[in-house]
Amino acid sequence: MKREFWEGTWERDELPWSFPGADGLYEKGMRWLGDWLYKERREVLVPLCGDSPVVRSFYDHGCRVVGVDFVPEALERLRHGHFAELSLSFNEEQDRWTGDRVELVQGDFFSFALQEERSFNFIYDRAALVAIQPERRAEYAALLEQLLMPGGYLLLEFFSVDSFIGTSAPFGMPHSLIAALFPKCRRTCFSTVPRQIGEGHFRPSGQDFVERNWCLLQKR
Ligand SMILES: C[S@@+](CC[C@H](N)C(=O)[O-])C[C@H]1O[C@@H](n2cnc3c(N)ncnc32)[C@H](O)[C@@H]1O
Repeated sequence: MKREFWEGTWERDELPWSFPGADGLYEKGMRWLGDWLYKERREVLVPLCGDSPVVRSFYDHGCRVVGVDFVPEALERLRHGHFAELSLSFNEEQDRWTGDRVELVQGDFFSFALQEERSFNFIYDRAALVAIQPERRAEYAALLEQLLMPGGYLLLEFFSVDSFIGTSAPFGMPHSLIAALFPKCRRTCFSTVPRQIGEGHFRPSGQDFVERNWCLLQKR
């Protein structure tokens, strides 16, 4: 989706991915990965991070964390809501807010990924893969794989649904696509829970529930 679409959702405060309990699946994932991730102070990437409190949680656990979102309002809320006391400074040349162990990149993920020379131990993709236009999904997935170190983990949280009213994000995705999208990774665990979907733009046609999926992949 174009940046203007997302700027509109942030301006209007239409943020249906942000709800009480939104972090539940993340916490479940950390029960599997917490020791591996936190003891070694890993490098973590949060693509399309919005104002997710999970970015701060990685930081609090000692990781070095990079978040990427192209809407300034999203990063402003993330900074003010979760990093206020760190007084991050803005690097104009690189369009990013930086501090000790944290970088919030204000830019398009595709451009970021093509220029980024580092790789990451862990990538946390919540509601990001499904925010990408289906035509660019394979390109996006290939960039995630490229940014992941061998042995590193990718945690995906996404919705599956047959069809949404309208032609905009989120784009429900069948989980059968995962193996084809991430050929360099093996699936280490997967779970799915039904979730009631609210009224409005994101309501799927003819369905009251979507599958809320959680999938952990490891790069070979
Ligand atoms: C559905 S929200 C999910 C936010 C966050 N991951 C969470 O779970 O709270 C998708 C976010 O992706 C951002 N976004 C969409 N396409 C992007 C792109 N190509 N580059 C950077 N950010 C993008 C939007 O601004 C929005 O904040």
